[in-house]
Formats: sequence, structure tokens, C-alpha cells
Amino acid sequence: MAIYSEEMERKLQISKVEDFVKVNIRGFDAGHDWYHIERVRKLALALGKEEKVSNTLTVELAALLHDIGDSKFRKPGDCNAGELIADLLTSLQIEKEIIDEVIIVNNCISFSSKEKQVIKTQVFRIVQDADRLDAIGAIGIARAFNYGGFRNNPIYIPDEKSTGNSSSTIGHFYDKLLKLKEMMNTTAGRKIAEERHEILVRFLKEFYKEWDFQI
Ligand code: ADP
Ligand code: NI
Repeated sequence: MAIYSEEMERKLQISKVEDFVKVNIRGFDAGHDWYHIERVRKLALALGKEEKVSNTLTVELAALLHDIGDSKFRKPGDCNAGELIADLLTSLQIEKEIIDEVIIVNNCISFSSKEKQVIKTQVFRIVQDADRLDAIGAIGIARAFNYGGFRNNPIYIPDEKSTGNSSSTIGHFYDKLLKLKEMMNTTAGRKIAEERHEILVRFLKEFYKEWDFQI
């Protein structure tokens, strides 16, 4: 007779969610692939530990499902992310309260979401920090240039002013990446963000030095 435990049930639920995510993010750029999801999950669980979160299952599910239905990759006719998540988690017998929180995170996590309309639950604050940390530092630089390449954007346009919607990838640093350090929600997240922010600053300094190379 199989010994049934809560831990086994949780492992099974997580592995079903992992399978769902892997299928659902197909076609996203390499900066939003399964490895991004795994990094965000790891960061979120680490921040959750620092923040002494009791419900780590909610943190893990919210991290795994945070990019489902990302507007950057939406195609006409795609299903509503909230409904997809609700159907999946209900079929796995996850409590309604947890499902609601996972959907809030998925709905509101984007940098472009209007901050004012967001209900900042503790899980939301943690997963948003984890996602933002993956957008800065060495990996953040790699992801930005990958996304810029995916969209065939120019690397840098010397005369471009930061408009919030720059066409070059260097412009995106000013639109978004350099602002993230000040937008962190958690103390632990802010500490990591400061280190990663420095990497961006050092990179830009070196970039301009090479760009303005004088004979
Ligand atoms: P949002 O929070 O608005 O959904 P994301 O956090 O999903 O944006 O962005 C994910 C990744 O894609 C980040 O690493 C970000 O730097 C990159 N990215 C988004 N837009 C651009 C852009 N215009 N140029 C370069 N990278 C971008
Ligand atoms: Ni993400």
C-alpha cells in the first residue's frame, strides 16, 4: 500500500504546474523561457524565507505561473490567463484562497501594470521582486539584449532620449532597468538589487567607453 503524504501531494501538484507552464510559454523569447521561471521561483522562495512567509506553496505557484498570458507574447484568441490558472489549480484541488492570490500576482506583476490598481499582498511583493531581480545584473543584461534581438531593435541610438518607450535596448535600461532598484518591495530584494544595479552601471560605463573609442 502506498504511503500517502501531504509532501507527496504537493510534489505532484508542483510537477503538474511545471508541465503546464512549460507548454504554455512555448514561443516566448529566451529571456522568458523555463530557465527564467526557475530562476524566479528560486529567488522568490529565498526572499520568502527572509520575509518569513508561512505559505511557501502560494509563493512557489505564483512564481511558476507569473508569466502565463504575458501581454508581450499574446496572440489574438489566446485564453484569459486568470481562467487558465483557475482551471488548472482547481483541478489540482488547490484552495480557492491560494488560487485567488496566484491570479492577482499573474495579473499585476508587469512593470507596465498601473501600480495604483495593484493589491500588494506579501506573496505579490515577493514574486514581483524576484521577477525584477532577474531583469537586472548580468542576467538582466543578457535578457535585455536577447529581447531586443528577438524584436530586431537597435542596440543603441546615440541621440535617443529616454521616453519610457525607447526603441533601442540601451534606451530600455533608462526606461526600466535602472529604475528597478528603487522599486523593490522587500528588504532582502533591495539588497540583491543594489548589487545587480551596480553591474548595469558598470556595463553602461564600459559600453560608452568602447562606443566613443578614439583613434
Ligand atoms: P514587464 O514587467 O513589463 O512585463 P518584463 O519584466 O516581463 O516586462 O520584461 C522581461 C524582460 O524583457 C526583462 O529582462 C526586460 O529587460 C526585457 N525587455 C522588455 N522590454 C524590453 C525592451 N524594449 N528592450 C529590451 N528588453 C526588454
Ligand atoms: Ni517574468
